[in-house]
Amino acid sequence: MDPMKHRPSSSHDAPYWTTNSGAPVWNNNSSLTVGSRGPILLEDYHLVEKLANFDRERIPERVVHARGAAAKGFFEVTHDVSHLTCADFLRAPGTQTPVIVRFSTVIHERGSPETLRDPRGFAVKFYTREGNFDMVGNNMPVFFIRDGMKFPDMVHCLKPNPKNHIQEGWRIADFFSHHPEALHMFTFLLDDVGVPANYRHMEGFGVHTFMLLSKAGKETLVKFHWKPTCGVKCLLEDEAVVVGGSNHSHATQDLYDAIAAGDYPEWRLFIQTMDPADQDKFDFDPLDVTKTWPEDRFPLQPVGRMVLNRNPDNFFNDNEQLAFCPALVVPGITYSDDKLLQTRIFSYADTQRHRLGPNYLQIPVNAPQCAHHNNHHDGFMNFMHRDSEVNYFPSRFDPVRHAAPTPMNKAALAGRRERAVLAKENNFAQPGQRFRSWDAARQERFIGRMADILLDKRCTQEIRRIWVGYWSQADSQLGQRLAAKLQAGGAL
Ligand code: HEM
Repeated sequence: MDPMKHRPSSSHDAPYWTTNSGAPVWNNNSSLTVGSRGPILLEDYHLVEKLANFDRERIPERVVHARGAAAKGFFEVTHDVSHLTCADFLRAPGTQTPVIVRFSTVIHERGSPETLRDPRGFAVKFYTREGNFDMVGNNMPVFFIRDGMKFPDMVHCLKPNPKNHIQEGWRIADFFSHHPEALHMFTFLLDDVGVPANYRHMEGFGVHTFMLLSKAGKETLVKFHWKPTCGVKCLLEDEAVVVGGSNHSHATQDLYDAIAAGDYPEWRLFIQTMDPADQDKFDFDPLDVTKTWPEDRFPLQPVGRMVLNRNPDNFFNDNEQLAFCPALVVPGITYSDDKLLQTRIFSYADTQRHRLGPNYLQIPVNAPQCAHHNNHHDGFMNFMHRDSEVNYFPSRFDPVRHAAPTPMNKAALAGRRERAVLAKENNFAQPGQRFRSWDAARQERFIGRMADILLDKRCTQEIRRIWVGYWSQADSQLGQRLAAKLQAGGAL
């Protein structure tokens, strides 16, 4: 093994130990003491600095998606979509853009097993020539709730009980008994796809509806889909126990080993598109994040491929300090009015200013790889080199001008102030259809997992009945079979 491989790669790297300020360290073994037995002198600056650095090694973990693995690679356009969007990185087939991807689990801590039943994060940062575009999605195409007001409470119920730090079914069943909009998401989470075999054999979805804008200003609603070229693989309960029991980092290891061996994982990017003029024509709201768009009416159209061919150089730099944000869009792609998406536009940068500091976008992994310029400056941990006396705008001394205008969403906005739910909730049709699309064994496994949550001894009869009622509205057979299972367990 080459010992130099383990050395830091900084251009300032010295061949001997130093303090952080560069003073040579001639003894990195023994503290400075009075005599050989101590006590230690406070003037042992090297010891104090070493401990002080160590004491501060941890930064707050992400409040959700704490456990994850990152990899780098590129995105390549394979199909012309320039009639739909003026996004520079989608300008023509063959165009390549560097990316970094982070896959994650959602609920548990930074060191938790990767075999837990949980959605998986699928976040892609495109370093485009017009700034970073972050597609911060999941491996499931829908979400539990459709209003961000509910997100903190939802996460609290899914996280461990604050009293004993154990995830408990009764708390989950209780919270979601108030939220039938979550049924569709549960038909993914409690289905066989609820525990992906690893991060490579996993689909990804932008989940929300976004909007594409063409150069001429044409607006198109869009949903994004990633399909792995190696296919989708998942684990059933027994398999997950074996895999997770032998290696609680199996998915991180699988990704790292595959890339190190040159077996580069690849995904194809597809879009579904809709004319905004058609938004009101369906029995569901196309901006509702708890709904999918039926693929027979909105076929998947190929756009490009993503190849991950580089492992992170350093886990802390490229994973812990990595910051994704659904607000980071580029000209040619913008937000829809989806309320949940609008909440996310605020939340990510806010948590990252807390988690990483106000200058988190200067950290190399987050910084744009294109030229950028503004007068935001200073603050904690600012390390941007500035050599300018004009830090105000406008100025006759600063030649930098506004960028050329880019298309905006032109839909007129009007309405009273309201705190309301969507008019077309339609909470039961899509979950029912999905359940009926499965074979009997798959249906039975799903019902068993739902029953396990409801059999938690702290679930009340009221909560169980509400759930049976919800599932009956999705599919009467499903409701009856769930009720029978609960009765057999003496719980109804
Ligand atoms: C991470 C908030 C909904 C996917 C996070 C983080 C926060 C957050 C605070 C931690 C970010 C960080 O520390 O860097 C929210 C809120 C939501 C919401 C308030 C709803 C209002 C969603 C949805 C999806 C999603 C619908 C999927 C489409 C992710 C992913 C990450 C993440 C993939 C991890 C990104 C990474 O790997 O660093 N979310 N989230 N979130 N969220 Fe959300």
